Amino acid sequence: MLSRIKIADILVDSIPFIQEFRDSVIVIKYGGAAQQNLELKEKFACDIILLYMLGIKPIIVHGGGPKITQMLETLKIDNKFIDGIRVTSKEAMKVVEMVLSGDINRELTFFFNHHGVKAVGISGKDSMLLEAKPKDFEVFGYTGEIQKVNINILQKLLDDGFVPIIAPIASGDNIKHPGFNINADSVACEISKAIKANKVIFLTDTQGVLDSSGKLISTITPNDARIYKNDGTITGGMIPKIDASLSCVENGVKKVHIIDGRIPHSILLELFTTNGIGTQIILE
Ligand SMILES: Nc1ncnc2c1ncn2[C@@H]1O[C@H](COP(=O)(O)OP(=O)(O)OP(=O)(O)O)[C@@H](O)[C@H]1O
Ligand SMILES: [Mg+2]
Repeated sequence: MLSRIKIADILVDSIPFIQEFRDSVIVIKYGGAAQQNLELKEKFACDIILLYMLGIKPIIVHGGGPKITQMLETLKIDNKFIDGIRVTSKEAMKVVEMVLSGDINRELTFFFNHHGVKAVGISGKDSMLLEAKPKDFEVFGYTGEIQKVNINILQKLLDDGFVPIIAPIASGDNIKHPGFNINADSVACEISKAIKANKVIFLTDTQGVLDSSGKLISTITPNDARIYKNDGTITGGMIPKIDASLSCVENGVKKVHIIDGRIPHSILLELFTTNGIGTQIILE
């Protein structure tokens, strides 16, 4: 009986959070690293259904790093990263689009629909949602930077009660251009700013941002983030996540969370409990 009363207590404790987030857009970056296990994926789908039923409008941006790496290795195509950002040759771009848009996006969309989420999978190329330019063509090839976000398609999907699931690919400037591979963290960030999201949640494969002794840092401000980047505490795939987080909070998004996608129901724990579980990035 006690534990049932505890469940009721937890529900009551979540009331202020439910009130705060109702009708707001929350962008969730679903990292490739957090997509590895079927049971967790199912729990993630249930969490999204719950958010949706509470009147929250989720937008999901997915990554796919591990699957892209696997496919490039199988096809013996170069697989290189600089500061956590993939270098994309023309050959690799074809593979990146096949894996992100043709494989992962389809699979996730089917999976969510199967679990009762009205999901629509799109690529950043659809309806010119994402327009990009090269980051630095000599160094990164077809890895791009977003120049413009055309949110009409997203707004329409949200207004009609759909959950958009976005593959991080952007259009180039002409019909022959193969398109750009965009780091999914920066896609989540640019979409959040354009659609004026309440918050962004990065689901990844670590507890959050860790300090040099491996301890979780619960809150980071822009100033702290710059220090951690400069002293080498933050490296690799955490760099684009932190850069995206800073850009979000410095441009109107209230709060960013980096949380452990390997913990069942991590989104619910972060959103609806007072202490949360990962790292929050706030202005001050
Ligand atoms: N200070 C740090 N704290 C936590 N993780 C860190 C830190 N510095 C570097 N990392 C690395 O960042 C990784 C997370 O980024 P990664 O790009 O691998 O995953 P993702 O962005 O969730 O997935 P994907 O790139 O496929 O979308 C961690 O697994 C860890 O190795
Ligand atoms: Mg990454």
